[in-house]
Amino acid sequence: MSGTLLEVRDLTVRYGAARGALPAVDRVSFDLAEGETLGLVGESGCGKSTLARALVGLAPIAAGTIRFAGIDVRSARGESLRTLRRSIQLVFQDPYGSLDPRQRVGAIVAEGIEIHRLARAEAVRERVARQLVRVGLSPDCADRWPHELSGGQRQRVGIARALAVEPRLLLCDEAVAALDVSIRGGILDLLLDLRERDGLAYLFISHDLAEVAAMSRRIAVMQLGELVEIGPARELLAAPRHPLTRAMLASAAVARGEAPAAPPLTGEPPSPSAPPSGCRFHPRCPLARPDCSRDAPPERATADGWRWRCVE
Ligand SMILES: Nc1ncnc2c1ncn2[C@@H]1O[C@H](COP(=O)(O)OP(=O)(O)O)[C@@H](O)[C@H]1O
Ligand code: SF4
Ligand SMILES: [Mg+2]
Repeated sequence: MSGTLLEVRDLTVRYGAARGALPAVDRVSFDLAEGETLGLVGESGCGKSTLARALVGLAPIAAGTIRFAGIDVRSARGESLRTLRRSIQLVFQDPYGSLDPRQRVGAIVAEGIEIHRLARAEAVRERVARQLVRVGLSPDCADRWPHELSGGQRQRVGIARALAVEPRLLLCDEAVAALDVSIRGGILDLLLDLRERDGLAYLFISHDLAEVAAMSRRIAVMQLGELVEIGPARELLAAPRHPLTRAMLASAAVARGEAPAAPPLTGEPPSPSAPPSGCRFHPRCPLARPDCSRDAPPERATADGWRWRCVE
């Protein structure tokens, strides 16, 4: 395996200071290797977007460390900060809201190239055209307005904009969730192609475990700000260790019309402003023991780095 690209340790993000409320991201630790895809999955509100935003300096980090290619993200300034800003790019969920409607596609894709001075003025257009082709669009798209494009085309523009600055890590936050089911596959294939061709690393975020499964070499599962399980994708999907992961897999099986191997997930996630005591999953856990409502479970791990938080 190639070297570690991203190292996150005990990352904690807090919005405001509501007493008793949980941090939106709570002591999360993981590594990501060069060229690797880590899938991040969890119910709505569990902190996935906040985690991604913290990695690019868009969420208030309260504690922990983030190192990217040896640079300490929280203290980076000057040249290292510029390198970081280029190297980690976010692809947003909403291809409608994330493109400025007053700019033509060419200007949208050129912006990063110009900010980071990656091409001389006369070469920018040519570089933009290359990015458009790279994501399966025609170079003529540069002269069009976002509203003239389909949802899938707009998301390709969003990806071209991210790629234009030659990042090493793409954070794809529900990158296909807002798209028609019929065009999701094409965008996911594009992301897979880019990984093969360019060795990009991905943090691939989705609330949909099946989607994450298809994309990822490792999978991380979040609940109420915490990472409750992280492990190798194939093994984790075959035999998840955390009851939440088992319940999510069971729900995915039910959605496909198959018989689930465990009870599916029921009920809503608890509110972060009134979190359950002990294990945060205990009110919904089919395997909960009496102690689970009192004690936070320890984190357990195998020698090869599969980790989960449960007494089971
Ligand atoms: N800008 C914000 N200000 C205050 N709270 C926020 C903000 N963004 C997200 N949150 C809260 O942080 C928690 C995690 O949200 P988010 O990261 O968006 O979850 P996910 O992406 O998994 O759905 C939620 O409780 C959400 O309400
Ligand atoms: S610690 Fe207890 S409540 Fe929490 S997931 Fe494990 S068995 Fe369920
Ligand atoms: Mg989100």
